[in-house]
Amino acid sequence: MNSVSGIRNFSTCMRRYANLQGKTAIVTASTEGIGFAIAHKLGKDGANVVISSRKEEKVSEALSKLKSDNISAIGIPCHVGKSEDRKSLLDLAQSNFGAIDILVTNAGVNPYFGTTLQTPEKAYDKIFDTNVKSTFQWIQDAVPLMEKSPNASITIVSSIGAFAPFEMLGIYSVSKTALVGLTKALSPELGAKNIRINCIAPGIIKTKFSQALWKNPDISKTITSQVALKRVGTADECGGIVSFLSSDEATYVTGETFVVSGGMPSRL
Ligand SMILES: NC(=O)c1ccc[n+]([C@@H]2O[C@H](COP(=O)([O-])OP(=O)(O)OC[C@H]3O[C@@H](n4cnc5c(N)ncnc54)[C@H](OP(=O)(O)O)[C@@H]3O)[C@@H](O)[C@H]2O)c1
Repeated sequence: MNSVSGIRNFSTCMRRYANLQGKTAIVTASTEGIGFAIAHKLGKDGANVVISSRKEEKVSEALSKLKSDNISAIGIPCHVGKSEDRKSLLDLAQSNFGAIDILVTNAGVNPYFGTTLQTPEKAYDKIFDTNVKSTFQWIQDAVPLMEKSPNASITIVSSIGAFAPFEMLGIYSVSKTALVGLTKALSPELGAKNIRINCIAPGIIKTKFSQALWKNPDISKTITSQVALKRVGTADECGGIVSFLSSDEATYVTGETFVVSGGMPSRL
């Protein structure tokens, strides 16, 4: 390869992999699992990333991993449901990087495993508070700072359970269906502000959150038999679609939900 074609190959690579250069991305609940993988991918593609979760030591550990991969990253502890935590994180992001171009709302919990009818009120409230209300509040708080971006993008992390409710995770699944609705409900209002909003619905992804579904070989076999690709997914496999949706390649895509499930049934 001569030096001219070497430079050309390099710049082609930069265009392909650094499409978020100069953008700033906030990913909530991002010190491990899907959130971390998304933050890592956005960072590798050139964005300055702002990470967080509740525990300080997890934030430090995740920041070290990102920085060791030459990613521009900052982070602080932030409980998604606490307005003062959201404000501190937005202030930190703004003072370090200016406008916010990308928001990924990833936090989701499930404190109850059992029949839908028997879901205790406390569990119901926690699921809806974290999964739906805090997602909405994150968007409310971030939008004024995103209006300054020429191509702002929000991605909500829902679940395949939004389309086909998981047995024993009924209310969790309903909260994830609500996020598909929230994406649709907000898209015209945000569209008028030149902010796009989309949603991803991961299938069974190998993380701590889903370990009950993949650790036991018998349960895992039953689960993967329903997946076209016959395996569970990895957190890294959720990053590419979010990077694409956040990029200038997707400027006419809004209000949609993208299923990342290896081919599980996905119609409402
Ligand atoms: N794994 C799957 O199969 C799957 C499938 C579909 C959808 N999802 C969705 O994907 C999202 C991420 O799940 P995951 O599997 O990646 O989980 P995970 O590996 O268990 O990671 C959860 C992350 O969220 C943080 N977190 C938890 N509660 C928080 C809160 N209230 N405020 C801020 N951070 C919080 C945790 O850190 P701290 O403990 O430090 O707070 C951690 O960084 C969730 O919305 C989940 O519903 C997962």
